Amino acid sequence: CGIVGYVGGAGASERPLEVVLEGLRRLEYRGYDSAGVALVVPGGRLATAKKAGKLANLVAELDTHPLPPATAAIGHTRWATHGGPTDANAHPHVSGDVAVIHNGIVENFATLKAELVADGVEFASETDTEVVAHLVAREHARSQDLTAALTTVSRRLEGTFTLLAVHADAPDTVVGARHDSPLVVGLGDGENFLGSDVAAFIGSTRDALELGQDQVVTITPTSVTVTDLDGNPVEATPFRVDWDTEAAEKGGFGSFMDKEIHDQPHAVADTLLGRTDAAGHLVLDELRIDEAVLRAVDKIVVVACGTAAYAGHVAKYAIEHWCRIPVEVELAHEFRYRDPVVDERTLVVAISQSGETMDTLMAVRHAREQGATTLAIVNTHGSTIPRESDAVLYTHAGPEIAVASTKAFLSQITAAYLLGLFLAQLRGNKFPDEIASTLEELRAMPDKIQEVLDRSGRVREIARWMADTQSVLFLGRHVGYPIALEGALKLKELAYIHAEGFAAGELKHGPIALIEPGQPVFVVVPSPRGRHSLHSKVVSNIQEIRARGARTIVIAEDGDEAVRPYADEVFSVPQCPTLLAPLLTVVPLQVFACELATAKGLDVDQPRNLAKSVTVE
Ligand code: G6P
Repeated sequence: CGIVGYVGGAGASERPLEVVLEGLRRLEYRGYDSAGVALVVPGGRLATAKKAGKLANLVAELDTHPLPPATAAIGHTRWATHGGPTDANAHPHVSGDVAVIHNGIVENFATLKAELVADGVEFASETDTEVVAHLVAREHARSQDLTAALTTVSRRLEGTFTLLAVHADAPDTVVGARHDSPLVVGLGDGENFLGSDVAAFIGSTRDALELGQDQVVTITPTSVTVTDLDGNPVEATPFRVDWDTEAAEKGGFGSFMDKEIHDQPHAVADTLLGRTDAAGHLVLDELRIDEAVLRAVDKIVVVACGTAAYAGHVAKYAIEHWCRIPVEVELAHEFRYRDPVVDERTLVVAISQSGETMDTLMAVRHAREQGATTLAIVNTHGSTIPRESDAVLYTHAGPEIAVASTKAFLSQITAAYLLGLFLAQLRGNKFPDEIASTLEELRAMPDKIQEVLDRSGRVREIARWMADTQSVLFLGRHVGYPIALEGALKLKELAYIHAEGFAAGELKHGPIALIEPGQPVFVVVPSPRGRHSLHSKVVSNIQEIRARGARTIVIAEDGDEAVRPYADEVFSVPQCPTLLAPLLTVVPLQVFACELATAKGLDVDQPRNLAKSVTVE
């Protein structure tokens, strides 16, 4: 869910509502099942509005039933957990003079609800959140202090939460609390902000404060006070957001997805920027991990979810080849609960765009408990995973708004290459000139990605023809295998088409049974150059499926003539070293999924049932 809070402005005005709606617009990627706002209006009153469905429904409701000027506001955009996406279950939840919004799950809500029902409280929704509203109202009645009330209630809650609360009698105050769920503070001039992530307020300020877990924050127009759950003051860490607002706009593209696909040359270039010295050595001072520890690492485990996990798969091929360190890649939610073998010599690398994915965060915590060193590859400043890791290597993709990941994926792969080369440099696995020449090749990648984009007209054409397709298969080997998986994932996410990715070598062990005349199959073909080329093996795989009637759509390197006789369609990409090829070969697959979904009339930025940042387990 996305959360925004605001206090400020001279007296009551439209600004609180405007700021909160603007924040919700920017945070809608965190959930779009319903949206709502609560305002504190002069005269000791709350005004609320909430609507099932996308934010546009709430905005339409506010147009027909405008709310009065206010001094403070909170707003919420929901990804449903407890209770379906109805008007009643939308946040805020109100109890008397208190309004509350919540991200997370209150696991002991049934016990708390029973206690309240026994007290005669009547419930208006099926949500776990409403329990919190009633508890805060009850505590406030005792203490007449909203911060104290939310602090006391937070101590009683089990599960995960970010909560924001306002009270009709506290016109200049919004109080927030967090436990294992995201919350950052934006600092303004005569106004202050709270948000699930910095996108909530980048339209108004770039100055922010990072909060720790189990903290309570009270904002007024001129103050920010942070305490722990026992009420003891704590110091919050200031940081400056380097994203600009333009980067969070569509900039003339039809969708954020299309725009972000086109941003990819920049995302990769920016991730490489400033990470080498004049002599061409990789410098990753930001890692803050003792070099002796990195030299002693005998195993790397990459933990991540979704697209980020496929970046991890690509990293495995590169890091094992360059550094000769074994690399395991595991879905974070599986890693966490299977008693994995990690110790002081394990480096656990968590890859996450948002830095908030709960499954990944839990994996990081588990790894640390086992004594492993943890390194985060993350895109979002002020987020939790870097804060709880030993070190962080930021990707510089800029804000990624579309729910399905594209430019963050390319920048994650890039950061993982940097990490691999850095470890190889540090541990002496490679000669300096080898590292320098690979870096040189990496620096050439943004232009090559641009070239793939410039050639994407034909991909779009094919995608439009294929808008009625029911099923698409993707094949790849070596680094092409995770790209096949990602190609299939993009198509599922964006176009709701059944799609599967396979390792091409596995084809004959089962999946080939799926091939029937007309079945479209994308094949990511490795370079025919290079010593251990798998090229001829993949070409054989293409022949095998073609013989059974498959329609083959091939991603191949420029100059690869050998594959043409077996391909119904070839999308060619510029030549580059095999290990770096994923930065190019995935691009036509992203464009394909985006274009096909658009041709079907679907919302590519906010696919059904998904959320960008999944902060529940
Ligand atoms: C969600 C998104 C995916 C994303 C995954 C991991 O499921 O819909 O696009 O790949 O989370 O997100 P992260 O922020 O950890 O990279």
